[in-house]
Amino acid sequence: MKILLTGAAGQLGHALRQHTPAGIELIATSRSGDGGADPGGGGLLPLDLADAGACRAAVLTHRPDWVLNGGAYTAVDRAESEPELALAVNGGAPRAFAEALLETGGRLLQVSTDFVFNGQQGSPYRPEQGRDPLGAYGRTKAAGEEAVAQLLAASGQGVILRTGWVIGPVGKNFALTMLRLHRERGARGQALGVVEDQVGCPTSTATLGAACWRVITANVQEPVLHWCDAGAASWFDVAVAVGELAQELGLLQQPAPVNPLTTAEYPLPAQRPSYSLLDCSSSRRTLQLAPTPWRQALRRLLEAVQ
Ligand SMILES: NC(=O)c1ccc[n+]([C@@H]2O[C@H](COP(=O)([O-])OP(=O)(O)OC[C@H]3O[C@@H](n4cnc5c(N)ncnc54)[C@H](OP(=O)(O)O)[C@@H]3O)[C@@H](O)[C@H]2O)c1
Repeated sequence: MKILLTGAAGQLGHALRQHTPAGIELIATSRSGDGGADPGGGGLLPLDLADAGACRAAVLTHRPDWVLNGGAYTAVDRAESEPELALAVNGGAPRAFAEALLETGGRLLQVSTDFVFNGQQGSPYRPEQGRDPLGAYGRTKAAGEEAVAQLLAASGQGVILRTGWVIGPVGKNFALTMLRLHRERGARGQALGVVEDQVGCPTSTATLGAACWRVITANVQEPVLHWCDAGAASWFDVAVAVGELAQELGLLQQPAPVNPLTTAEYPLPAQRPSYSLLDCSSSRRTLQLAPTPWRQALRRLLEAVQ
């Protein structure tokens, strides 16, 4: 089976390449063809997701059984000042893939986000619920979902897999940033301030990658799936857990004290959903994958940090 993977130099892309199932021919692409922050990267095909023509051509040339669109414009705050580029990447690329796949007959796995919801309902979002994003990033990812649904729903060629708070052992993410800050400040007893009134669930690239591969190898027909690690957490909870687990694992001597902040005390350009838990129960049954508690997944991630 031939898979065209985008975002291969990103954190999810790294996990997908590390655990590619047997029997899969992977055509791994990144923006420039290099591995980016991924130390194991390199040898990738260049594919600019902002170039719809190039996305279409990649499908028509390689005729993959699946496009696994793991690449995205993920800079949530920068998207507020670069909405056109974010839309080209997050909305234009999935549309172009979907259009080309209608010609070739392959399928599309579009990785999406909890940020397509407004976070105001106070209970986990189910896959079939309507989108109502708060910021530019969420709007552009919602546009990508809409293109996939509009073009591929009738033929059943598209699957949207939403996730949230993605963290992995390589790349840029909240867990690695907290590890660095704990290391820098812990020894000096300097505190970190972290937001505690936004709740979601951290999701490791290891379990997310396994879910993506399961969609493909099981040829799942469900149009929208949710995948996160199990439980709920605030950013504050995750920051504290990173310090505790890193100390247990000998990655640092002394974690920094963590002070809880409100969102209003830590203003950022993009508004974020305050409660963006995803209800993954039906998707876990569909994928036949057991959930991993987020703290356990975080521990495994930290064990893999070099
Ligand atoms: N990170 C999260 O917390 C989170 C939460 C929910 C959902 N998601 C979704 O999960 C998926 C994987 O995210 P991730 O965390 O692995 O993100 P990531 O580490 O930022 O990786 C995204 C990759 O996409 C690439 N990319 C961006 N613009 C591109 C372009 N124009 N052409 C080609 N490649 C481009 C980036 O390359 P550059 O490094 O060169 O920009 C990067 O390698 C995405 O669909 C994202 O929307 C992520």
